[in-house]
Amino acid sequence: MKWNLAVFSLAIMTLPAFSADDVVRLPFGKTKDGQQVERFTLNNPNGMKVQVITFGATLQGIEVPDSKGQFADVVVGFDTLEGFLGEHPYFGGVIGRVCNRIGNAKFSLDGKEFPLAANNGINTLHGGKKGFDRQVWAAKSFTHRTSRGVIFSRTSPDGEEGFPGNLKVNVTYTLDNDNGLRIDYNAVTDKATPVNLTNHAYFNLAGKGSILGHMLSLNAKSYTPTGDTLIPTGKLAPVQGTPLDFRKPTAVGARIKQIEAKPVGYDHNYALEESCKGLKAPAAVLSDSSSGRVMQVFTTEPGIQFYSGNFLDGMVKGKKGAAYNQYDGLCLETQHFPDSINQPSFPSTVLKPGQTFTSTTLYRFSAEK
Ligand code: BGC
Repeated sequence: MKWNLAVFSLAIMTLPAFSADDVVRLPFGKTKDGQQVERFTLNNPNGMKVQVITFGATLQGIEVPDSKGQFADVVVGFDTLEGFLGEHPYFGGVIGRVCNRIGNAKFSLDGKEFPLAANNGINTLHGGKKGFDRQVWAAKSFTHRTSRGVIFSRTSPDGEEGFPGNLKVNVTYTLDNDNGLRIDYNAVTDKATPVNLTNHAYFNLAGKGSILGHMLSLNAKSYTPTGDTLIPTGKLAPVQGTPLDFRKPTAVGARIKQIEAKPVGYDHNYALEESCKGLKAPAAVLSDSSSGRVMQVFTTEPGIQFYSGNFLDGMVKGKKGAAYNQYDGLCLETQHFPDSINQPSFPSTVLKPGQTFTSTTLYRFSAEK
């Protein structure tokens, strides 16, 4: 009897603490033109849950524990597909073919000019009128011993949004057993084209309210200053002595009013330090003392756009009917520098036939007492 009990207790102890399926795939509605959209829920043994949908290869939700083990969803978005289909500022979407801005909505490559849609004043923003975040992606899930995930894929046809070449893209979301969510991007093309891919998730580690009290550190000594329409001047400038200096953990709201921008807030591309290379040091660390949640961001990209949700204005009703007000979420978009295709001094974003574009970003979550 005693022996049986011992065996039974041992069995219980070795069972995973959480027994939901690693990956659950369910229908998530249809687009206006009748395309089926699906949602994948990734579960790890700690109870962490990540939800991604085939519309926009969008990161819909991340549920992580706080210091008391209470779970909250730390990304802004919608409960249903309708929300994602409607007007919103790129909540959680994969942004491409070129994220951020392309100045004057055009670029030249190999002696040919490519006009693009001007969907942000005179510039192109986040891939144009119908970027990667508004397309339905094919998807395949996988389960490994200590991780699980989804591979999204699509071919962006030659001429889509004005960009040259058929671009085959894969975006893989992987949730590991240490509460890390990794996004791997890769792409190949049959004509030279600019490529710059990112994810536009808005994070709020408290799960609701303002992010102005979140502490942020950014592993960057310099940033790319911009002109009136947020197109870089092509130069790098030091953050030292400016409200952009996040080399030491600082509350997002501490100096935000000193930023000269309308609406006021951070919307800047930081040039990351060499130490970030190989995912060795975090590019950014975000923390929220009210919940104890911490998010480290590692990336292979040379830049990160810190956007403090300045344009959120309460008009969009999101998850559980929440109105997202200014500063209710912030983005840390890992990327090559904005407008690189028109800026010879920036690292190149041109992908040529025969080359493979790769990019990785890892968000690691934890909680501090
Ligand atoms: C840009 C902002 C833009 C926002 C749209 C960010 O990536 O840097 O300028 O307003 O996306 O939601």
